[in-house]
Amino acid sequence: MADQHSVFADGTTPPIAVALRWEEPPEGPVLVLLDQTRLPAEEVELVCTDVQVLVEAIRSLAVRGAPMLGIAGAYGVALAAARGFDVDEAVELLSHARPTAVNLAYGVRRAATAYHDALRAGGDDKRAAAAALAEARALHAEDAEASRRMAEHGLAFLDELLPGGRYRILTHCNTGALVSGGEGTAFAVAGAAHRAGQLRRLWVDETRPLLQGARLTAYEAARAGMAYTLLTDNAAGSLFAAGQVDAVLIGADRIAGDGSVANKVGSYPLAVLARYHHVPFVVVAPTSTVDLATPDGAAIEVEQRSGHEVTDVTVPYVPGSGMEPGAGVPVAPLGTQAYNPAFDVTPPELVTAIVTEKGVVSPVTADGIAELCTRSSTG
Ligand code: MRU
Repeated sequence: MADQHSVFADGTTPPIAVALRWEEPPEGPVLVLLDQTRLPAEEVELVCTDVQVLVEAIRSLAVRGAPMLGIAGAYGVALAAARGFDVDEAVELLSHARPTAVNLAYGVRRAATAYHDALRAGGDDKRAAAAALAEARALHAEDAEASRRMAEHGLAFLDELLPGGRYRILTHCNTGALVSGGEGTAFAVAGAAHRAGQLRRLWVDETRPLLQGARLTAYEAARAGMAYTLLTDNAAGSLFAAGQVDAVLIGADRIAGDGSVANKVGSYPLAVLARYHHVPFVVVAPTSTVDLATPDGAAIEVEQRSGHEVTDVTVPYVPGSGMEPGAGVPVAPLGTQAYNPAFDVTPPELVTAIVTEKGVVSPVTADGIAELCTRSSTG
């Protein structure tokens, strides 16, 4: 908790460790992000006064994870509108800041639609900006509620599959409060199991190359008081072989119409391992992550990131080290080419179930997904 950046004229500092919030100090509205590149060493906030700063925060993963990207995108449109920037330009920049998580474009679109609808209805710029902000706030609240429902549905599903169990759950990447308006997606299910006394252990994949598991999921698990153990991604196989995994729970960045799941690279190998070892492989995501306009896995655009994330080992941020967050130490010979997709795609036949706020689809089929999307949120 070393360093806080306050934007308040009276010098007060708000409570920290909230992934994102909107503030209106006298200097003008701002979007305040918890800078995830500095976790777990420091809880430092990043203050976005314009869309360019927010776009850079999205690209550098200071703010990340599909549902949170949607929320950030919506507030980004509200920020542009409230500060009198070109909203259509902001929409363009934000929607394309990262390609795979469909929530980003979804959140941007929702706020932009609210803004333009208000203008079309005869409202002035101020009213349109207020409409965009109200939509961003609505999306934020909906995501919190979705998270609560996913936790309920997910735990009930685990209870059905593995009755009376205390589960050893393996998870990949980061799916907790840092990516959500609530407690998250897959991590929220683990959290519910923990509170019910049903979490025997959370196995946390470190998640190479950017270590979202080691830096962020372990941080959230520790704060929640869970029994958790960190492993390198390539240790998962021996963990399955030893019979130490009861279920895999992961999130998603985009779910295609056929039920293919794009998630952090390394998810697909886990699904293959899970199938071989007869372990349920469960995806937890809000329906805002389902993209019926993307028919199948092959149509999902997978973000390719800089090879430096692979040829260099990214050093977790250490205050006072003189190294910037995200800096790396080269480990491969100079000039080495790297393959660095940020995500991979798991085909529906390897997914035991998709848990959403509207209920559970299992087995995962195109019809099941389509039917789920038509349900009301009270499922
Ligand atoms: O590249 P990131 O860190 O934004 O990756 C997104 C993720 O955190 C994961 O893929 C996650 O499992 C899905 S978002 C809850």
